[in-house]
Amino acid sequence: MQPNRHPCDQPRLVFVAAVATNGCIGRHNDLPWHLPEDLQHFKSVTREGTLLLGRKTYESIVKRLGRPLPGRHHLVLSRNTSWQPQPEHAHQVQPVLSIEEAIRVANNRLADTLFVIGGAELYTATQAMADTAELTEVELEPEGDAFLPGWGPKGWENTRLPNCKAGDWQVSKASGLRYRFLRYSKPKVNIKLGAAVLVAGLASRFHGQPKALLENQQGSILSQTVKALLSVGIDQVCLVHGGHAGALVPLVDGLKVQHVENPEPSAGQARSQQLGLTQLGQDLDGYLVCLGDQPLLDKEDLRRLICAFRKREAGVDMVYPETPKGEPGNPVIVTPALRDWFVSQKQAMLGKDWRQANPGKALAFPTTRPGFFVDIDSEDDLKAFNAGQKERKRLTMPLGYVFQRSAAR
Ligand SMILES: NC(=O)c1ccc[n+]([C@@H]2O[C@H](COP(=O)([O-])OP(=O)(O)OC[C@H]3O[C@@H](n4cnc5c(N)ncnc54)[C@H](OP(=O)(O)O)[C@@H]3O)[C@@H](O)[C@H]2O)c1
Repeated sequence: MQPNRHPCDQPRLVFVAAVATNGCIGRHNDLPWHLPEDLQHFKSVTREGTLLLGRKTYESIVKRLGRPLPGRHHLVLSRNTSWQPQPEHAHQVQPVLSIEEAIRVANNRLADTLFVIGGAELYTATQAMADTAELTEVELEPEGDAFLPGWGPKGWENTRLPNCKAGDWQVSKASGLRYRFLRYSKPKVNIKLGAAVLVAGLASRFHGQPKALLENQQGSILSQTVKALLSVGIDQVCLVHGGHAGALVPLVDGLKVQHVENPEPSAGQARSQQLGLTQLGQDLDGYLVCLGDQPLLDKEDLRRLICAFRKREAGVDMVYPETPKGEPGNPVIVTPALRDWFVSQKQAMLGKDWRQANPGKALAFPTTRPGFFVDIDSEDDLKAFNAGQKERKRLTMPLGYVFQRSAAR
């Protein structure tokens, strides 16, 4: 049985299409024009991505190129349960029977984006779900038999994607055709969020060394977590450190981060959470509580969790990730009311204890994304983690690091 999927736990659907002024996109299962500049644009937009396409479009590509599009994974939609790609293409082409299945497969591949690349039937079926559309408008009125749904003399007015950024008209060197690139997107509903990043833990199972220092080729876990938070538009980030400020603070040098020290790390995580939430202040719409030892947490995880927080129903005060087996993960997001409650408690309380006491007010966001659930607690965890990672993702402590509480203060 498939676990219930939350509408936020899915990749962004991005339409990619070239459309003539009259809405035509195809004729006799082929493109009605030759525009190398558009093919180049298509290539750069979809590079190394996961593509969703109708069976007819897939066959037209193979007919034209003799193979699928290089470097991209193709999910080919067909109602025919026996449809299969040619065996030599099977490593990069996967048949799917429904859009739902395609989203599931893309999720399992940890794809952030699913590029919907046509044709007309597929664009129609997925239009209500698209987050963005990357269109190439071609100044031409060809005859055809495939059309982009909703396209009119003024382009794509009255769609769910009302924001249109239009590039300048250009002239193709190869064909003399006039064309321009358009990006349609949803209006942004901005909410102001803050995040407390808790790195004050005593790390007793990790020789007292702060796990947020662990680093791979992209930098430390801490700097990667903070960068991910800032990149999804978190307005305020507050680092709560214990005795390791001297080692941790330089890792976020140059990033927009506040700091607060938990003078008593042995008082536990609840106290660090309270200090971080206090420091973030009252004028935000939501508060994330993050840990500094989640090496796979990325901006896509955060985007999905924030989406679930935005879509929560009235009465929900906390949103947290949860595996299909019911195991909770991190980070969590709380409302301003719950933030105020945490801040006001004489005896600081952990999020998970509050959740147990208030099950009706906590919303589990069901997801299997490992970023929410993988953390490093001990050296054994680190060994197990590294064994499953490619070289560039393997974590080590910075060379020469020796933990000295007194020197770090
Ligand atoms: N200008 C552009 O950017 C662009 C991009 C792509 C394609 N095109 C053009 O568009 C034309 C093809 O479009 P099209 O509408 O005829 O075909 P299509 O959308 O490429 O493929 C249609 C097929 O996909 C499968 N399918 C579609 N929706 C499905 C669903 N909800 N569930 C399961 N299967 C589903 C069915 O396959 P089965 O029949 O196997 O069940 C259906 O016959 C061609 O001319 C192509 O060149 C243009």
